[in-house]
Amino acid sequence: MNWYPADAYGELSSDISAVLITAEELHVRVQELGQELSRDYVGMTPLLVGVLKGVLTFLADLERAIVIPIEIDCIAVSHYTSVGRGKGAVRILKDLEGSIRGRHVIFVEDVIDTGLTANYLLRGLRSRDPASLSVCVLFNKPHHRIIDVPMKYKGFDLPDRFVVGYGLDYRERYRNLPFVGLLEPAVLQGNSSE
Ligand code: IMP
Ligand code: MG
Repeated sequence: MNWYPADAYGELSSDISAVLITAEELHVRVQELGQELSRDYVGMTPLLVGVLKGVLTFLADLERAIVIPIEIDCIAVSHYTSVGRGKGAVRILKDLEGSIRGRHVIFVEDVIDTGLTANYLLRGLRSRDPASLSVCVLFNKPHHRIIDVPMKYKGFDLPDRFVVGYGLDYRERYRNLPFVGLLEPAVLQGNSSE
């Protein structure tokens, strides 16, 4: 696979102070996760439930790394940023399209930080009687964990830093970078977007 180099993204590149995880490293790890899921869920046709929008890039690569039949559904949430990040106030903007009763559900998230978003959504999913429910998260940020989230499938542990790229945004930008990087401090100034 070919990716543009990290400096090919013009003004986006110049906002990045360091690349933490390269496109190649992401690709390798996502393939491994797909293989693991393919083995564990053989014969079950699991339903992958992704959380928009941050998960889009990960989900698109993960689904193609899975070699058994699967289905996909998505949920969209908004965080009440006025209340402050990490307060766990989450509103569902778009619910699942179908029922998950009796299904083997894999909850797919880009980042788990405090754990509040995942915990809230997992409680909701559990109440809808799936046959099983597991978590597949690409990035675990354990430093600010408030609520423990069981993560059966995990891509990377991240340091206590705000990262962008591979679907992750800062004020809706940088999602299209194929790598994960740190933002220049000047860009982050005075805001803690989630
Ligand atoms: P929570 O704190 O576990 O509830 O995570 C809430 C949301 O914060 C995640 O779904 C991400 O959308 C976002 N988030 C957490 N850390 C980062 C980061 O480093 N970059 C971009 N988004 C993040
Ligand atoms: Mg997210």
